[in-house]
Amino acid sequence: MSNIVILTGAGISAESGIETFRAETGLWAQHRVEDVATPEGFACNPELVVDFYNARRAAAAAAAPNAAHKALARLEAEHKGKVLVVTQNVDDLHERGGSCNLVHMHGALNSALCATCEHRWTAPMEMRAGDACPSCNAAAARPDIVWFGEMPYQMDLIFEAIGEADIFAAIGTSGNVYPAAGFVAEAARAGAHTLEINLEPSAVGAQFDKALLGPATKTVPAWVESILRAGA
Ligand code: OAD
Repeated sequence: MSNIVILTGAGISAESGIETFRAETGLWAQHRVEDVATPEGFACNPELVVDFYNARRAAAAAAAPNAAHKALARLEAEHKGKVLVVTQNVDDLHERGGSCNLVHMHGALNSALCATCEHRWTAPMEMRAGDACPSCNAAAARPDIVWFGEMPYQMDLIFEAIGEADIFAAIGTSGNVYPAAGFVAEAARAGAHTLEINLEPSAVGAQFDKALLGPATKTVPAWVESILRAGA
């Protein structure tokens, strides 16, 4: 039975109404990355950063999982081999769509992290800079998001799964941010068949064996159906 590792990015949540980062009118056209997605930006202006993620949290709460999220949950439930979803997304649409075997490599909006003692707790809808940690009481709460310059979460588990993968698919990610953009090369080295599912070829699109181009709500259910029908 084939083991499948799926990397997802903002494109899978786009049709749920969540803005992507690098579209012409996307989040990085509206905000400076350095201001809202780096430890230095948080040190300079924590209110701005916390407000940015409060707005993302509200957008995620107002959104619903789409057919692509649900298709990946169906794949996990019905495929006989292992299925792991590694998402760069900080929304919770994969889990609300039914995925269980899931890694949030860039963190999660619904989690808060203490910068002093590393305790984690459920983030309130409206975090405030200087919120107290419920464990050590330091005024050091921050969004549990991996910022540029920080190490993504669970890299050992991810590389182990990629090393055992027979199929590696990347869905709705532009291939601009490492280490995620390097997973296709790693999967190819490990002998996996590699597939890119996107509206258009990504920055690393040439490295994939195959591409399926189109909106995720159409392409992902069709791909899942084909895998389940093949039964391999
Ligand atoms: P991007 O905004 O860079 O890329 C989104 C990708 O989704 C693009 O390649 C689009 O073509 C594609 N896309 C858009 N709508 C789609 C649809 N309906 N169906 C299929 N594909 C679609 O987002 P990411 O690649 O996820 O990190 O960005 C990676 C990381 O950069 C993010 O996790 C975030 C960001 O800065 C941090 O903040 C640390």
